[in-house]
Amino acid sequence: MISEARKYQAFYTKSTPIVDYMVSKLSLQARDKIFEPCGGDGVFVETILSENEYAHIDICELNTRSVEILSEKFSDCLNVTIRECDTLLDTELKFNSCFGGIYDKIIANPPYGAWQDYDKRVVLKKMYPELYAKESYGLFLYRCIELLKEDGILSFIIPDTFLNLHMHKALRNHILNKTQIVELALFPSSFFPGVKFGYANLSIITLRKKSDYKECLKNTFVVINGFDNVEQLNNIDDENLKKYSFKQEDVFKNPEHAFLIAENSKILKLISQSKLKVGDISDCVTGFYSGDDKRFLQVISNELKNGKNYALANIESINTDYKYNSEILSGIDGQQHFLPIVKGGNTKYLKPESWFMNWSKEAVQYYKTDKKARFQNPRYYFKFGIGVPMISSSSITASLIENKLFDQSIVGIFPKDEGLTYYLLAFFNSPTCNKLIRTINPSANNPANYIKKIPFIIPENSVLELVTKKTKNIVDEVRTTGSYNEQIELELFQLIAGTYGI
Ligand SMILES: C[S@@+](CC[C@H](N)C(=O)[O-])C[C@H]1O[C@@H](n2cnc3c(N)ncnc32)[C@H](O)[C@@H]1O
Repeated sequence: MISEARKYQAFYTKSTPIVDYMVSKLSLQARDKIFEPCGGDGVFVETILSENEYAHIDICELNTRSVEILSEKFSDCLNVTIRECDTLLDTELKFNSCFGGIYDKIIANPPYGAWQDYDKRVVLKKMYPELYAKESYGLFLYRCIELLKEDGILSFIIPDTFLNLHMHKALRNHILNKTQIVELALFPSSFFPGVKFGYANLSIITLRKKSDYKECLKNTFVVINGFDNVEQLNNIDDENLKKYSFKQEDVFKNPEHAFLIAENSKILKLISQSKLKVGDISDCVTGFYSGDDKRFLQVISNELKNGKNYALANIESINTDYKYNSEILSGIDGQQHFLPIVKGGNTKYLKPESWFMNWSKEAVQYYKTDKKARFQNPRYYFKFGIGVPMISSSSITASLIENKLFDQSIVGIFPKDEGLTYYLLAFFNSPTCNKLIRTINPSANNPANYIKKIPFIIPENSVLELVTKKTKNIVDEVRTTGSYNEQIELELFQLIAGTYGI
């Protein structure tokens, strides 16, 4: 059974600065017809009524219990209409969307990733064929843009994932061509009281409906970030906030219409204009999963992070000759059938050999057939390459995969020209690379599809040789002492920054 809160995603906006900022963005006028598409307990409606007690407001809400609360709360307000309905499926709203919209202002904190039963998902997919139907907030935003009159304004608080994720390309296209963005505020989800979202960041997007796409693309909008606290939302002129202006046409021209937001215009130029990307010079692939690590994975010491729940590796069962075994993808006969595997964790340059996977013939057969197991991209197993953890703690990191297995929490990067391996190893650990990937995808995730999009600039030969030599020295030092000279690393970073100009 899923909880009521999860089913309806009933996380109410209990933050006065957020509500006040959003209401102020609507520039309310006395005669506005206003819509709240997911009423909850009516926090936006109350604030609007406190400014204009005669405001004409329509509320929709799916949850019967919330509708009862709303009806009671606003029983004296004849100008407030409450309907129990599904905003995404309702025929009246659909009708009004098709005829150019009827609202002057819309305000919402829609459900994010709301649970939808299978039948509803099928209907939604039909109604919104281009959109990512699994993520409810995008559907609400789309529906509400359609419900706005020409020049009507909308303010939504939603996760920032629509700015970059591949799945939201159609939504970005719609926003950029059907609306003029007024302002986009980006801040940590911790500003939203009471709920810990799985999402890294939240955004408040305010936009104005415009039917002429040329007018939309000509529009320039402001992005605000760098918030230290939620109160700054009510003081947007605060000098400590960072503000950037973008023309919609430039965003539209970005790969997949992604909103690339960076302080430095050089970073944006590199991403949108560089001819070569990491995906052109290397193969970037996700690694292996046994399907049941508790059963097949062993650890060198239980003291290791997350090592408590795994069986201890027995030195006698570890195979060291596997690199010369041409049949390795079918598994190993005999007692020595455990092989080293590189797992996630943000260790730079070289990870100690700590984890070992059962690679017996029977185990490999299991990996190839089990539903949960991922025997994916096997032609890259046991090859020499680079591993970048899918999740970074702060900055992106990379370490060598020295002919080992690598698990699915890692993206394996295998340069087509092996001569680039150590250069790329330094690059993926550098602040230059971090700036690029965090602009391509601001969350702390580095899936293969984003890594492939990082611009690659072929270094001059002298730089390539020097970086390769110094990086090899660092790797050797880590292998023998467990640490490395950070001064040398700084020199590497400077050489890479010199090549990229950032
Ligand atoms: C995130 S809460 C926000 C409530 C309120 N607007 C606020 O900010 O406090 C989302 C609300 O939308 C309602 N809801 C979820 N799916 C809906 C749908 N398809 N149509 C209408 N309301 C829906 C939930 O019951 C919940 O009250």
